[in-house]
Amino acid sequence: MTQTASPATNTEATPAFTDVEPGAKAVLFDYRQAANPIRHGLTEPIPEGRWGPELHATGPSAILPLDLSATLGCRGPATSPALSANFVRILAGETIEVAAKATSALFYVFRGQGRCRRLASRHGVAHDQGWSKGDLFVLPSGPAPQLEAEQESVLYWVHDAPLLAFLGVSPEEPRFEATHYPGPWMRQELAALAADPSSARSNRLSLLMANADLPRSRTVTHTLWAMLGLVPAGAIQPPHRHQSVALDLVIDCQPGCVTISGPELNADGTIRDPLSMAWEPGAAFVTPPGHWHSHVNKSGHPAMLLPIQDAGLHTYLRSLDIRFTSGMPQE
Ligand SMILES: [Fe+2]
Repeated sequence: MTQTASPATNTEATPAFTDVEPGAKAVLFDYRQAANPIRHGLTEPIPEGRWGPELHATGPSAILPLDLSATLGCRGPATSPALSANFVRILAGETIEVAAKATSALFYVFRGQGRCRRLASRHGVAHDQGWSKGDLFVLPSGPAPQLEAEQESVLYWVHDAPLLAFLGVSPEEPRFEATHYPGPWMRQELAALAADPSSARSNRLSLLMANADLPRSRTVTHTLWAMLGLVPAGAIQPPHRHQSVALDLVIDCQPGCVTISGPELNADGTIRDPLSMAWEPGAAFVTPPGHWHSHVNKSGHPAMLLPIQDAGLHTYLRSLDIRFTSGMPQE
């Protein structure tokens, strides 16, 4: 079967009508040709990118995008269709502007210390907040933030500008307030969770960062989702999957930690022909939507991971579809 279109838009097709206006964009497809356009050569599936810590270990102050836009066929930099992940490396005493036409920007301080300043917007207030290693903070749309480093610093920066670029829109008003999650507080809460008797047999101990202004989604912003996860020594997690993409940052680990992933399960619930992503502190990798994945820690030491997802958006759309081979965890 061939598609039908006006002669001006498709030279291969047989016109449906001979009196279509020249230049018209209307096209008709046989359902079977267009019902699933996610395939190689058309709408590319989301690839499993990986970037090692050497990307941000040395060099001048710079924004270092984890850019897969050429494969995705979208405006870059983009790490997934909706999100852009970047490392921001800032030398001591220097300032870098992190501008993005985004509704949500998330920063995790991988190392260093400094301040984030931004001018007041038409709808929002000025922002001036210190940050240090282990902190996480989120900013809504508004003037470009300035990151000032008091020590040599590396931040992991994820925002949703690719989604807005696809929609062809600019943010009109902030949807949440700038919010700061101090690292010592999150680690204290994670330690308390690990010490809870109910956690004794859990192979994953994780905190989800949320915002009191977003009670329905329980996510860090209305589009973004963030988790601080502890993978205990010896853990082999049962696989799970979700329709949100995961842009994972390895915070801390010893050699012997991997994430395995793949689109299919074997009959015994293991992942068929899995791809293995080796962990290194400061490495980042992509877990594509719908892929079953499992974090494995054979290092003998606890390890920490920070996945950032577009699960706030998927929760709003009711399209998250999170599933576990071991059954849904109980609240
Ligand atoms: Fe996941």
